[in-house]
Amino acid sequence: MIIAANWKMNLRPCEAQNFFKTWSELNPGQSLKNRSAVFFLPPYYWPLAQSLGLKNLAWGTQNMFSEDFGAFTGENSPVVAKEMGAQWALVGHSERRQLFGETGSFINKKVLKALNLGFKVLLCVGETLEQRQSGLVQDVLDQQLQEGLTHVVPNLHTFIAYEPVWAIGTGLTARQEDITKAHRMIRHRLLSLGFSPETPILYGGSVKPENSSEILSLEDVSGLLVGGASLKPDPFFKILNS
Ligand code: PGA
Repeated sequence: MIIAANWKMNLRPCEAQNFFKTWSELNPGQSLKNRSAVFFLPPYYWPLAQSLGLKNLAWGTQNMFSEDFGAFTGENSPVVAKEMGAQWALVGHSERRQLFGETGSFINKKVLKALNLGFKVLLCVGETLEQRQSGLVQDVLDQQLQEGLTHVVPNLHTFIAYEPVWAIGTGLTARQEDITKAHRMIRHRLLSLGFSPETPILYGGSVKPENSSEILSLEDVSGLLVGGASLKPDPFFKILNS
């Protein structure tokens, strides 16, 4: 099971430092019921993550460009991220799609680049409320998966996160049956694209300690992607142990 934290653009340096100090006290390296924690961090916290040496913890980029180097002011080089020790790449988060206009084909370029460089990729897909109300969940998930995974040779480094946009940061968690249905749709599409039935599908959207174990017990949920509740060590540690 993968329990992933997405810090987004949050936390001051002293807060990040305190987080990991408390984290290392909470988790002095014992194995965590087959769970592993992945932190998607802003680049300025990469050296911090790298210096931690904590067991059961990996870290990754929240965003990276689709080219190695070049005149791309403000972008993150995937090669640099790799050399700095990032193992994971979060791609296609709805905030990137909606606020920064990332298209399916651009997301696909990033997926291909990340896999090519040996990252594990967590590709996010999910519908807006409007799309859900118009009965378009399956179409949206199919399209996002189809686009995001174009020319991707089925592999064991690709992970999917189902994140209904209307549940992100809103406190509204999707109903159990909606999660199960969406995960089934995703599984169906992944199989049709030739991916292994073992390809992990995580859920994200207002996950908190109060609902995490219930969500993890649902059919075909292989982990969680946690935003707000990952910003403090206690709730995130509870989720990791749920
Ligand atoms: P949330 O964010 O847990 O705050 O809803 C999840 C995400 O954006 O990945």
